[in-house]
Amino acid sequence: MSEKRLAVVTGAARGIGRAVVFELLKQGRIVAGIDLLDQQLSVLAKDVKDAGFEIITKALDITDTPKFVEVLESLASEYGGIGILVNNAGITRDGLLLRMSDEDFDKVIEVNLRAAFVAIRTAARSMIQNKYGRIINLSSVSGVMGNAGQANYSASKAGLIGLTKTTARELARKNVTANCVAPGFIATEMTEKLPQPVKEAAVKLIPLNRMGTVDDVAAAIAFLTSDEAGYITGQVLCVDGGMAM
Ligand code: NAI
Repeated sequence: MSEKRLAVVTGAARGIGRAVVFELLKQGRIVAGIDLLDQQLSVLAKDVKDAGFEIITKALDITDTPKFVEVLESLASEYGGIGILVNNAGITRDGLLLRMSDEDFDKVIEVNLRAAFVAIRTAARSMIQNKYGRIINLSSVSGVMGNAGQANYSASKAGLIGLTKTTARELARKNVTANCVAPGFIATEMTEKLPQPVKEAAVKLIPLNRMGTVDDVAAAIAFLTSDEAGYITGQVLCVDGGMAM
């Protein structure tokens, strides 16, 4: 029955989220993808169809809490609950600490941390009822180790680790697991915009000597959603080529 459980992926339109969608579809899940980018969601839906699968897409801003809750609740009632939740949507607003504005701090916390909390609070209801749930939150090596220029981002990603561990403790008795995947330096549109010298310097810090791919991260997420990972909870799995060890 596990393959029939609905999986919700935020930030599904591109990058890691998009790779996670395909990985979960290959595992036979019903997948709902949420993103701000309406047009890129349509491209995703078309590509999914061309690959012989189907996806439910919802275009919305996950910081619009009432709307986000409404969408998650309606998905839960239509599909008999949310079985898997992948809190993947995230943004950066980098800048040195001394020059970082309150707005840039708050915005990153709102998208990366608060929206994940809202999603967990909402999805947990049906997970508790069904005595089954797999929650995966996308943290980052920046949240594990800190990173100059990312006070807001690393605070949000470290916050997700605390949120994950508390979720894991509160929901364990209901057979709901919660884990973080902490990617290192992954080739996506988020990292594409970095200047070339920054990218070259970053690769030098990676023991495996290359940037990661979205598929490296999606495979780890898919594993943590699987039945085989049912005894793993409250963990941070770094997918970072050895950066944070
Ligand atoms: P990306 O920027 O390529 O994709 C993020 C997606 O989230 C986009 O489609 C975007 O539209 C969506 N999104 C952003 N704000 C939203 C909002 N308010 N409402 C709905 N959707 C929203 O990013 P990427 O690289 O795929 O990253 C995915 C996750 O992995 C993020 O949480 C990121 O922080 C994390 N991560 C990425 C790393 C990397 O090297 N690319 C490293 C460590 C963590």
